[in-house]
Amino acid sequence: MKITVLTLFPKMISGFFEESIIKRAVEKKLVEIELVNLRDFAIDEYGTVDDRPYGGGAGMVLRVDVIHKALSKITNDKLQMTNKIKNSKLKIVLTSPRGKVFDQGKAQEYSKLEHLIIIAGHYEGVDERVNEFIDEEVSIGDYVLTGGEIPVAVIVDSVVRLISGVLKKEEAVRNETFDIDGKKLLEYPHYTRPENFEGLKVPDVLLSGNHKEIEEWRLNKAEEITKKNRPDLLDRKK
Ligand code: ADE
Repeated sequence: MKITVLTLFPKMISGFFEESIIKRAVEKKLVEIELVNLRDFAIDEYGTVDDRPYGGGAGMVLRVDVIHKALSKITNDKLQMTNKIKNSKLKIVLTSPRGKVFDQGKAQEYSKLEHLIIIAGHYEGVDERVNEFIDEEVSIGDYVLTGGEIPVAVIVDSVVRLISGVLKKEEAVRNETFDIDGKKLLEYPHYTRPENFEGLKVPDVLLSGNHKEIEEWRLNKAEEITKKNRPDLLDRKK
């Protein structure tokens, strides 16, 4: 899989991909991550990529021609101004607080693509006409960040860990959430040594060696935590 990120601040993101599991995935060639600096597609020698909004208002808006030029190069000129690329293995997304909320389902969908292109949104705004040639806008949650670089890191991380071979078997199993009768539950609690930390004890059942009881305890705990923190998950159909 290839992931291309278009950003005005590549250095804000690059360090993130040079550590830990993402780094390992890149080294193993399970994913290729390409960072493209939008400034390289500026309209003049001053590096102009944005302009004032028509109709007035505060802030600067990222120009549609700059994004189009960058996307055309990345997709080998397959991009038509009024025509989205019809390729089920390629998706072009823009990070934006007004986008569809990114969730595990979206991460799964993106992880099956051959090529994911993510445009990191601008703090002020992006020319609306960009929507003519992207697939969707995505938001990582109901809050507003100063730019799309953190959302890019979130999306890439959650997508890359789902690519086959990226997580070691034990990591993949350990991170699984319960999925019972179509209900998603949050993870049960984990404990490790010491058995007793200043009076805070590991629950007896986990030391019992009784696998059936341990499974039941974990399921009950998962339900209890989900009910407390995310009751909406219990009502949600799959
Ligand atoms: N840009 C600013 N805030 C954002 C958010 N919550 N999600 C995606 N992109 C954003």
